[in-house]
Amino acid sequence: MDKPGDTAGKHGHDETSPVSTPAKKPRIGSPVEAPDPTIEADDTASDGGYESDLASRASTSVCSSVRDYEFENNRRYHRFQEGRYQFPNDEPEQEREDMKHAMVVHLCQGKLHFAPLENPQNILDIGTGTGIWAMDMGDEYPGAEITGIDLSPIQPQWVPPNVRFMVDDAEAEWVVPEASLDYIHIRHMTSSIRDWPVLLSRAYTALKPGGWIELQELQFQVKCDDGTVREGNKVQDFFETMRRALEHFNVDLLAMRHNQKNLIDGGFVDVAEIPFKIPIGTWPRDRTLKKCGLYNRSMIQDALYGVAVRPFTRGLGWTIEELELYLIDVRKELTDNSQHGYTPFNVVIGRKPG
Ligand SMILES: C[S@@+](CC[C@H](N)C(=O)[O-])C[C@H]1O[C@@H](n2cnc3c(N)ncnc32)[C@H](O)[C@@H]1O
Repeated sequence: MDKPGDTAGKHGHDETSPVSTPAKKPRIGSPVEAPDPTIEADDTASDGGYESDLASRASTSVCSSVRDYEFENNRRYHRFQEGRYQFPNDEPEQEREDMKHAMVVHLCQGKLHFAPLENPQNILDIGTGTGIWAMDMGDEYPGAEITGIDLSPIQPQWVPPNVRFMVDDAEAEWVVPEASLDYIHIRHMTSSIRDWPVLLSRAYTALKPGGWIELQELQFQVKCDDGTVREGNKVQDFFETMRRALEHFNVDLLAMRHNQKNLIDGGFVDVAEIPFKIPIGTWPRDRTLKKCGLYNRSMIQDALYGVAVRPFTRGLGWTIEELELYLIDVRKELTDNSQHGYTPFNVVIGRKPG
């Protein structure tokens, strides 16, 4: 049985670490310029002026009957296909997901997608969460029909007229008609999906010839380009422990590293990867990255107990007390701006031939 401290000594510089190597460029012409590979640190970094950005965040409302939920350790979970997704769906988690959306859109200079869409008609958002991306997409493409599916009915009732939400399991047989979609969007699903090749083959079938798929995923590892992340970093230890915990639910937390290969193997063409780095903390000099770093740190901080409580107790057999004790050091490590850690964030796009 895995317990706190079992992974002590692990750190972010594994064999896949891009330490001191430039970020990979997309295979086909990228719709945006990839960011500078090395993030310059601001030696005087403090959080001044940023707190109010977080305080003003709006949260979405819960609109569904309590019968659709189950409760455990004071957190709320989806009931449809119970136990499939290990993270809560309550308001704190929804606020966190919306913060993640703001972070990613800010990082991507306001872009909601990188696939070169031309007058899309039918768009599917898999694991839509609070539906925030789908609603923004509905505003951006008033001529398109956007459908968001999720295990949880947590999306708002009042939505743009061209957006609808459905409770559905993306890993069950799809009812979407063949060759009916122009674009499929999958974001932050690496902690959810058990069988990516099967999911992607269903997506392939559902897309029209010439239709695009896009995968946007955080890589939950603490990477570092300048050697400042210490051996045994507790945030990296947390990510690694989460990876081991999710294994018990047949989910590979780092499956996103295979997104590009999975798309190529699945028959998609024009496959391109656009790599980003999201700092943990306000240590970069660049204003955009500093703000993203604040979001990222808050997002991880707010996540810790909520996302860990089920996988660590059910998957690894920890007690709540062991978890709470363990998280004290993780929280402490998160606020250390002298360690220039970041989490990779990769966008991968691919087109169905035709
Ligand atoms: C981390 S959230 C991401 C939300 C959204 N994609 C975003 O980027 O804002 C993952 C979401 O996927 C949903 N989910 C997990 N497994 C799913 C499945 N098999 N089918 C449909 N939705 C699923 C969860 O309920 C949760 O809302």
